Amino acid sequence: MGGIGSMGNSPVKIAPSILSCDFARLAEDVGKVSSADLLHVDVMDGHFVPNITVGPQVVASLRKVTHLPLDVHLMIEYPEQYIEAFAEAGSAIITVHAEATRHLHRLLQRIKKCGPLAGVALNPSTPLSAIEHVLDLADLILVMTVNPGFGGQAFIETMLPKIRKVRGLVEECGRPVLIEVDGGIGPATAGRVVEAGATVLVAGSSVFNSDDPGAQVERIRRAALDAAAGLG
Ligand code: DX5
Ligand code: ZN
Repeated sequence: MGGIGSMGNSPVKIAPSILSCDFARLAEDVGKVSSADLLHVDVMDGHFVPNITVGPQVVASLRKVTHLPLDVHLMIEYPEQYIEAFAEAGSAIITVHAEATRHLHRLLQRIKKCGPLAGVALNPSTPLSAIEHVLDLADLILVMTVNPGFGGQAFIETMLPKIRKVRGLVEECGRPVLIEVDGGIGPATAGRVVEAGATVLVAGSSVFNSDDPGAQVERIRRAALDAAAGLG
């Protein structure tokens, strides 16, 4: 339960982000999206991004109330200081920002050694050269489609060609690397990011600000799978 093996083999995974949950009713809100593939947990420290959210203790508590694998997105300075704590808390994936560390290659090795899959996130302005030489290690590349820090921002259209380029790099490297997108994703944008190459779709406000979060996950999934089918 909760491991990455429980994700199934659908071509596109949906990962609701708890950032738009009611944090006083976290377990209840998370229970509404049990049909999703992953649960995305946004960790913010008020330094790397201007907002502050949760730490390993909340990840450990979430681990007890959901069967979904926990996809932990670290938007923090000095991520190297917290890898063990987030791994022990039950993260299935730990994603660090390329901009937040001087030794990305070493950090990815360290995440994998602790057990979770290792992801690298890129801010909208960060070039792909930042990940070119870690594709032998990364299990997931997260293309931020908003500037990180807050939910409910508008999708940045110019990230579509960036996602396409990531798909090209991943195809070239020949490893099964997940391509995740985060920010401004909902039924209206899901198809376009999948056409560009995304395989994991994070959605926060679109899911949790809706009247029926579970049904909204399935709407996003439908739009994503229709686009994936179109790719042949
Ligand atoms: C933003 C976070 C996102 C956030 C996305 O910095 O990384 O995961 O929850 O929110 P929406 O889906 O509302 O753009
Ligand atoms: Zn995120």
